[in-house]
Amino acid sequence: MTQENIELVFSQGTSAKKKGKASARLVFLSEDKAFGKLLKVAPSPEGVIIGLGDEKTADAETIRRAAGSAVQYILKTLGAGSLSLSPKSSKKLLSNRKFLAAFTEGAILSAYSFDKYKTPSEEQQQAAKLTGLHLPVPASREILEAKSVAECANWAREIQNEPANVATPTMLSLLAAKEAKIFGMSCKIFGRAELEKMGMNAILAVGRGSAEEPKLIVLEYLPKSGVAKKKIALVGKGVCFDSGGISIKPSRAMDEMKFDKSGAVAAIATMRLASILKLPLHLVALVPAVENLPSGTAGKPGDIVRAHNGKTIEILDTDAEGRLILADALSFACKEHKPDVLIDLATLTGACVVALGDVAAGLFSNDPSLAKELFEAGMESGERLWELPMMWKDYDEKVKSDVADVKNLGESGQAGATAGASFLKEFVSSGTKWAHLDIAGTAWTTKPRHQFSFKGGTGFGVRLLARYLSKQ
Ligand code: BES
Ligand code: ZN
Ligand code: ZN
Repeated sequence: MTQENIELVFSQGTSAKKKGKASARLVFLSEDKAFGKLLKVAPSPEGVIIGLGDEKTADAETIRRAAGSAVQYILKTLGAGSLSLSPKSSKKLLSNRKFLAAFTEGAILSAYSFDKYKTPSEEQQQAAKLTGLHLPVPASREILEAKSVAECANWAREIQNEPANVATPTMLSLLAAKEAKIFGMSCKIFGRAELEKMGMNAILAVGRGSAEEPKLIVLEYLPKSGVAKKKIALVGKGVCFDSGGISIKPSRAMDEMKFDKSGAVAAIATMRLASILKLPLHLVALVPAVENLPSGTAGKPGDIVRAHNGKTIEILDTDAEGRLILADALSFACKEHKPDVLIDLATLTGACVVALGDVAAGLFSNDPSLAKELFEAGMESGERLWELPMMWKDYDEKVKSDVADVKNLGESGQAGATAGASFLKEFVSSGTKWAHLDIAGTAWTTKPRHQFSFKGGTGFGVRLLARYLSKQ
């Protein structure tokens, strides 16, 4: 783990003058001043002053981004490893626990980097790492939880960033088993032979091109005391590498397809968080983990398989593999676990990236109140969601196959993200409240962005689900 242990210190006094510490003063400045930008570098004791823009429109995300800028400034420019939030910062910030939590979150997210494989130069060895955050306020539950949430998001980023030669389906299953052991969760791992017996032919169809064994990981969390309020299942797409299979992808940026396991990682990291926060919920994470590779044993376009719920699928494009592995996992989740709520996270379609960019993930749901709750959790966490349509029957028609029950492609050039969701809907039992989150555009970033000062995995989904679950 590259993440340093960041200590939170609460007190009313300033301590910025101590060596190794720098203070950031965050102030609301008039609208015409650039939002979140470094506006002025003041000498000690402030260290740096960061403008937050207009006080009326600033939200928690403004504070997260500003905290990210503060951390980068004190680490890179001042070479200090401990950040104090100046008591001279805006009163609105200092008196609002949500804002203080956002500051903590933004700072911890910004301090993350993936450098475990780099031999450090002497200069890098000397480089400051964030080890302390000093807040001029009393401790609060919101701030302490924000620390756990951000640390779990960074934990997720670390696994996302692991390359495909390390993060294989087997490695993910061992990781889940280790988490289960540490936190007292239960963990079941199904390999090829069990998947065959269970009728998980869609997962097997995707995994058959690789020498790595496909797995279905089922991680279950129950509160240690008291009754669970609800049973919620999280399904995460765990394609440890997506080459496209026989429908092979162009080589440009194919390395990014190591991030195709991001949904799986978010689901596992959320279970870790639930354990740390001792959430009063019954949670089940279901992760189908595979590699999508071309080979002599790989599945071919035109193949027909029978999924776990008995429906037949015509595989017209082996690159639309995420929906195949999710089909079996969603059906299994409904039948074996009968959750009150089912949420899947998947880097499912390039079309969703075209529609929403890296600004929001696609939200699809068969239940308007679930969609609303998730949307709100997105706004609060800064991991924004935007609802796209799925429930109109016309969309269902597009995934009907001529030779099987469904096909894994929609109509060429049309509503690609919805086609993915409509396909998945075929594998969710009617009556199950379900949401599908297409995180293809938000799961990683190709350049540093806001509090994600280090490009790569963003841990998208962990902070969103933290908000959503805490309100159940
Ligand atoms: N993993 C990709 C989706 C993806 C693309 C995620 C770009 C992030 C960035 C997925 O398996 C895929 O290849 N989808 C195809 C589906 C198509 C063949 C219907 C796509 O989006 O092109
Ligand atoms: Zn694909
Ligand atoms: Zn994929």
